[in-house]
Amino acid sequence: MIIKRFDRQEELDQYAAHLITNIVREKEQPVLGLATGSTPVGIYKAIIEEASRTRLSFGHVTTYNLDEYVGLAPNHEQSYSYYMNEHLFRHLDFQPGKTHLPDGLAADPEAECKRYDEMLANHPLDVQLLGVGHNGHIGFNEPDAELHGGTHVVRLKEETRTANARFFDRAEEVPEFAFTMGVGSILKSKMIILVARGADKADIIKKALQGPITTACPASLLQTHANVIVLLDAEAGRELSEDGTRIQMVHS
Ligand code: F6R
Repeated sequence: MIIKRFDRQEELDQYAAHLITNIVREKEQPVLGLATGSTPVGIYKAIIEEASRTRLSFGHVTTYNLDEYVGLAPNHEQSYSYYMNEHLFRHLDFQPGKTHLPDGLAADPEAECKRYDEMLANHPLDVQLLGVGHNGHIGFNEPDAELHGGTHVVRLKEETRTANARFFDRAEEVPEFAFTMGVGSILKSKMIILVARGADKADIIKKALQGPITTACPASLLQTHANVIVLLDAEAGRELSEDGTRIQMVHS
């Protein structure tokens, strides 16, 4: 695991963007695992800037998002489908048929999970971009006694609904359920980029990266992956000790 701490948000964003655009440049059929939330917004902006500046095409890129709210249509402003179009897809030459999110309106959620897992099995992820919840969730894999390997429907914890209420007009509008890729699928990605910003993420970053590996903190399972790069701002990284043997700390 490599951990990089950045003093400036723009540097973090450009670094993460560059890791992703390198894959897009190098691979014939790149497959990107993408995330939503506040954390990746600047990274998507940096990808758009770099791709526009270097005339990099995304026409050959396939994407899979981590999650989607159950019950929200793709054109609902708080759906993750809408978010991805606004923040990334519509700005570059992504092919509509190649960008995938679980269908929040699927009539048969179980069949939808199976469909998503089959697509993932046929298109192994080259990279998975991740944020982390305050309770250690990755995707919407919430802390629990057991975690799921594959795509499933999860009842969101109240703390997650509260954290995400800032995107909705009223807290009650935050859906109770979401589709999420499982931890097994996330860990199958060839490379994982975990990003966290802000003092409010410092405790969970410490637990996830230097605490015990436990389903009570799903992000701690990333310690078992051979190719994880963690990008933090100074606040999110402030609780980490630099003497962990599994960690290479780089300051920018
Ligand atoms: C989003 C996702 C979530 C977020 C996490 C952090 O697709 O899967 O795990 O990454 O909730 O959210 P922010 O970035 O808003 O702090």
